[in-house]
Amino acid sequence: MSRAMILGTGRGVPAGILTNYDLEKMVDTSDEWITTRTGIKERRKAVAGEETSYLAAEAGRDALSDAGLGVDDLDMIIVATVTADMIMPSCACLVQKHLGAHGCFAFDVNAACSGFLYACSIAEKYIRADSSQKILVVGAETMSSRVDWQDRNTCVIFGDGAGAVVLGGSVDDRGFVAEKMYSDGGLYELLYIDNAQSMNTDLQNPDYDGSYVRMAGREVFKHAVRAMAQAVDEVLVKAGVSPEALTLVIPHQANIRIVNKLRTTLGLSSEKVYVNVDKYGNTSAASIPLALAEASREGRLQPGDYVLFCAFGGGFTWGAQLVRW
Ligand SMILES: CC(C)(COP(=O)(O)OP(=O)(O)OC[C@H]1O[C@@H](n2cnc3c(N)ncnc32)[C@H](O)[C@@H]1OP(=O)(O)O)[C@@H](O)C(=O)NCCC(=O)NCCS
Repeated sequence: MSRAMILGTGRGVPAGILTNYDLEKMVDTSDEWITTRTGIKERRKAVAGEETSYLAAEAGRDALSDAGLGVDDLDMIIVATVTADMIMPSCACLVQKHLGAHGCFAFDVNAACSGFLYACSIAEKYIRADSSQKILVVGAETMSSRVDWQDRNTCVIFGDGAGAVVLGGSVDDRGFVAEKMYSDGGLYELLYIDNAQSMNTDLQNPDYDGSYVRMAGREVFKHAVRAMAQAVDEVLVKAGVSPEALTLVIPHQANIRIVNKLRTTLGLSSEKVYVNVDKYGNTSAASIPLALAEASREGRLQPGDYVLFCAFGGGFTWGAQLVRW
């Protein structure tokens, strides 16, 4: 059975930039507070026409072009998102429509900020079963559609964007080497987004006050560092690879303090940890593939390098994956 490897990467982000100075005019905050607490300087904010499926399709086209493939080569499209344009159809089906892809199947994965890792985990199993398959995996979000713009605790953190990879069979030892994936639904109340109010009056929530991101920041912070560090350790042990052998770690870009705490816990130098949270904020499922696409274009990865992804998000969900580039 051959491994699944990454054949191409892509990105799709809204044109509009919302800076910390813009936010100073919207809520009681400051560039200094946001920068020191989160490392974020600006984020992208979608406008009409830049819905999640549009950004996802942009990233998908970019990844297909990077892989030297066309839409007709695809066997499957998976989109990881918590901000799909519609409840039905899935965002992946809308991406299929935007791309004009036929003869493949498409579905969404909801695992919040860990969604891209979950989607890759599914895709790589399909490719192990049939290495001729080509699968588009996208992480895409318009978090701006689910943020309460009056709540300074959350509105400064999140951003919009999409990243994508095309996976296919490997002919050598490159590709997905090892992974560890987890969730703990018992802790969901620390980070969640309510659905819209039910149309069934019997099922309506009397306490409903909007479909917004709700977050207990400090608790999330502690769990995120601990859980990601543990998953990374487990993956490295499973693969028999030392932290020194890693060329690049691409963590979920939640905030710079989580990334730095994770880096020191793992004993890694700053050059080995990719950061672009300053430009995009927390783009949930999009953050790792967006960072990967930028790292790849910056020449940070060479064939044979070990790159490690780790993520943490609502659910809680978390995990780590080791890839030989
Ligand atoms: C959200 C986070 C940056 C807040 O930092 P913190 O040091 O924990 O701050 P606290 O929540 O304790 O709040 C401290 C004070 O800052 C205030 N504050 C919160 N957001 C603010 C903002 N944007 N601007 C100014 N002040 C703010 C709070 O109201 C609080 O004020 P108070 O003491 O008068 O009540 C931090 O907890 C964090 O990074 N958590 C992880 C979040 C995350 O990554 N979530 C996604 C995971 S996938």
